[in-house]
This record gives sequence, structure tokens and C-alpha cells, in this order.
Amino acid sequence: MLIVRGMNKPTSIRAWAAWPSTAQVPLGHSPIIPVSNRPTNGASRTIVMGHRAARGLAPENTLSAVREALAAGVDWIEIDVWHVDGELVVIHDQRVDRTTNGMGYVQDFSLHDLRMLDAGNCQRVPLLEEVIELIDGRCGLNIELKGPDCADAAVDAVNAALRTKRWYREQFLLSSFDHAQLARVKELDRRIRTGLLLCGAPYDLASYAQQLDVWSVHFSLNFVRAEWVSAVQNVGLWAFVYTVNEPQDAARLREINVDGIFTDYPVEALATANAFNTADAA
Ligand code: G3P
Ligand code: CA
Repeated sequence: MLIVRGMNKPTSIRAWAAWPSTAQVPLGHSPIIPVSNRPTNGASRTIVMGHRAARGLAPENTLSAVREALAAGVDWIEIDVWHVDGELVVIHDQRVDRTTNGMGYVQDFSLHDLRMLDAGNCQRVPLLEEVIELIDGRCGLNIELKGPDCADAAVDAVNAALRTKRWYREQFLLSSFDHAQLARVKELDRRIRTGLLLCGAPYDLASYAQQLDVWSVHFSLNFVRAEWVSAVQNVGLWAFVYTVNEPQDAARLREINVDGIFTDYPVEALATANAFNTADAA
């Protein structure tokens, strides 16, 4: 059943207003993550991933947020997916209430009814396929498997995109807090990169990550330690942190050698990352 009520505006998270530079990176720049595994010296500057595409600039996980992230020049776009009626849909919560004008659990909707909802500024809840088509290989795409049973459809979506020849395999990353789904991805196609999402860390972090054969480890800003970052980097994995919306946090993470951040404010985060890099080079 489709239930519609008044629109909720996405929560506005504190901006980076105090940060001096607002320089934009041109559309279509090359992603800086190399094709190979993590080099010992990491990336040339902090990697910037647009969180829920670019949540600070447009309604989260919508096509307009994807456009904003591309215009900002992000290295990667991160989105969240759920499996509904055989399709992967791009939405964060278990319920549609916060981000659309509907009410109820995502998985209680038919695909048709879900697509009738307004996800902000008269936009639909996108299909993963639409996001892939819009990005068209212009940056990396980190697909967070948020709902259950997303792995098979996500692997199919990646392989379908690769057949179009507009993407290369290394531009896709399938991540999840549901580590069984990461194992399932590897079972289906070992070549696809996976990202281990954590809130805290297991005692045997590096061996746990290696056992799952992940490419990267994604720490929460509330639970990240220098020794965890170096533990995963020492076994050749990338260390990313979510969600970083304050320049002082970005600076602290750079001090502990984090490779990349997820942010709602990619324009400011890229300006900050580039400024740090220029300062280092001087
Ligand atoms: O993938 C990093 C981050 O998006 C995980 O947290 O709740 O924003 O999906 P959440
Ligand atoms: Ca996410």
C-alpha cells in the first residue's frame, strides 16, 4: 500500500563553512585510486567519496545528488541499496519515512509503489541501474549493500555495466556491514572489490579482513584508531573513514594516514584535501 504524507527535508549536517577554500575540481577528472592494490605510500592525496552521493548538496541518494557529486569532482560516489521486486533501489533507511513522502518499510513496497514516492525535489527513488547509467564511468561507485539479499543482484549489475565498456572493474566497490554478503560477492565473482564496513573493529582486524578478501576497510569516525589504520594498510588494504564533515576531523585523519573519507560536502572536502597536498609539496 502506498501511503503519502508531508515531505521531510533531509537533515542538514553542520557545514564546513569555516574552512577557507571553496575551489571546485572540474567535472570529469580522473579517479585517483589506482587500478592496482594499495601502494605502500597510499594515494597522492586523501580520496574523497560523496556520501549518499552528496547528501549535503541535494536529497540523499537521488540522481540530483549524484549529479552534484560528479560536478564536485569526487573520486567515488557512495550510495545505499535495497532489493525490491528483483531490482536494487537506492535508499538508505529500512523505512521510507525520513527521506520520502511515504511511510512504511522499503521491502513492504512493490517496486511500482516505491517509485511513485517523492525522494526530494520531485525525484523518484532511483534504481541502481539509473545511477550506473548517469555516472557512466566518470568516477568510482561504492554500492553499500544495506538491505538483505543484495549481493547477487549487485554482482549482476556490475557485470552488466562492464559489458557496456564505459566502466572498468576497479571502479566498482561493493561494501556492507553485513559481512556474509561480502563473502557472497566473492563466492560469485572474486574479481569484484569489496569493502568491509565496521563500527568498531574485531580483535583480529587484519586477519579478519584478509579472510574476507576485501579491498578496503571502512571505519566509523567514532571508532577509528591509528593502529587499526596501519594494521589494515600493512596487509595492503585501503583505510577509509565515514562520515567526515568537519575540517578538523579531516586534518586529524590525515595525521593518522587514513587514505580516504566519505563526506556529505565533497566540494569543501576536495578543496581541503588538495590544500593539504599543496602544503605538503611546498
Ligand atoms: O559507507 C559508509 C557509510 O555510508 C556507512 O554508514 O549509515 O551512512 O550508510 P551509513
Ligand atoms: Ca551508506
